[in-house]
Amino acid sequence: MKKIVFFLMLTILFGQEYVGSKKCKSCHKKKLSGAQYKVWENSKHANAFETLKTPEAIETAIGLGINTNPWETPECVRCHVTGFDNGGYEIKGDEFWSQITDKGKPTKEVKRMTGLQGVGCEACHGPGSKYKSKTKMEAIFYGDISGTKLGYTIPTEDTCKQCHNEKSPNFAGFKFEEKLHEIQHPYPDGFRESKKTKYKSK
Ligand code: HEC
Ligand code: HEC
Ligand code: HEC
Ligand code: HEC
Repeated sequence: MKKIVFFLMLTILFGQEYVGSKKCKSCHKKKLSGAQYKVWENSKHANAFETLKTPEAIETAIGLGINTNPWETPECVRCHVTGFDNGGYEIKGDEFWSQITDKGKPTKEVKRMTGLQGVGCEACHGPGSKYKSKTKMEAIFYGDISGTKLGYTIPTEDTCKQCHNEKSPNFAGFKFEEKLHEIQHPYPDGFRESKKTKYKSK
């Protein structure tokens, strides 16, 4: 019993939320540090949700005996969004999507959900609410903390295979090294070393 209460408290204390890739943009758009946001924005991952609205997607779904819209069907949505069935994206009805504020803008909740459409940063790096501050990010970068308790994860081949597997109707095999090369968004040469030097000399 005590153990259960303890774990409950842990989840409350460390409860991380998916915040959406836009929240990573302000710090990860500069060319000097690799412009990860831009690389991602131009990748197929960023557009993965929109793909479900194409005639090709609808045809694929019908071929599988699915009569609902692919973008509203769990069997399709799960791999084309961020954090499905894990506290992230949820399939919602028209009532949810039409919520607006007094000023006629989409509500915070609607904006968050929209931001989780597509395969965002957090689909690979983990839910960001707890690690996205500058202090935490730098502590992770310098290896002072692992970040795992804050939801941060280092992506591996297994991360990719959660979606790149036979359950994908379009699966044609997955060669990790090759595919990684296609989506990479590394720091520029020398960035890591120069930043570490600065930190040491503080
Ligand atoms: C307030 C600024 C800020 C925000 C917001 C932010 N980061 Fe960072 N992040 C940093 C800094 C600073 C570093 C250290 C490297 C650098 O200077 O770019 C870093 C490093 C990283 C690293 C590399 C860690 C390592 O060990 O090399 C990853 C991955 C990362 N961030 C992902 C994200 C994701 C995903 C989000 C959004 C959920 C995000 N960041 C939001 C500032 C931020
Ligand atoms: C949450 C699910 C998910 C995860 C995790 C994921 N992907 Fe993807 N990936 C997709 C989807 C969906 C597409 C297709 C997007 C489209 O065409 O609209 C895709 C497309 C791609 C593409 C371009 C199309 C192709 O197959 O050549 C590459 C390359 C790729 N992913 C590599 C990776 C790598 C490497 C990882 C792990 C580091 C990864 N992906 C993790 C869902 C995912
Ligand atoms: C297990 C994860 C997964 C599921 C479930 C899934 N997809 Fe995908 N989808 C992917 C990945 C990964 C890709 C990238 C191509 C690849 O390598 O498989 C992709 C690519 C696509 C593409 C682009 C095809 C291309 O060649 O560029 C379409 C369209 C698509 N999916 C539609 C659907 C539809 C419709 C459903 C539901 C019936 C669905 N997907 C279910 C993971 C998934
Ligand atoms: C499909 C999975 C995937 C997505 C989506 C993704 N990343 Fe990454 N990211 C990786 C992998 C894998 C690595 C480690 C790459 C390597 O080993 O070369 C990485 C590395 C990084 C690094 C460190 C670069 C370095 O040279 O060490 C930063 C910073 C980063 N990602 C930020 C982001 C941000 C910000 C976003 C969203 C705008 C994002 N990533 C989206 C998989 C992903």
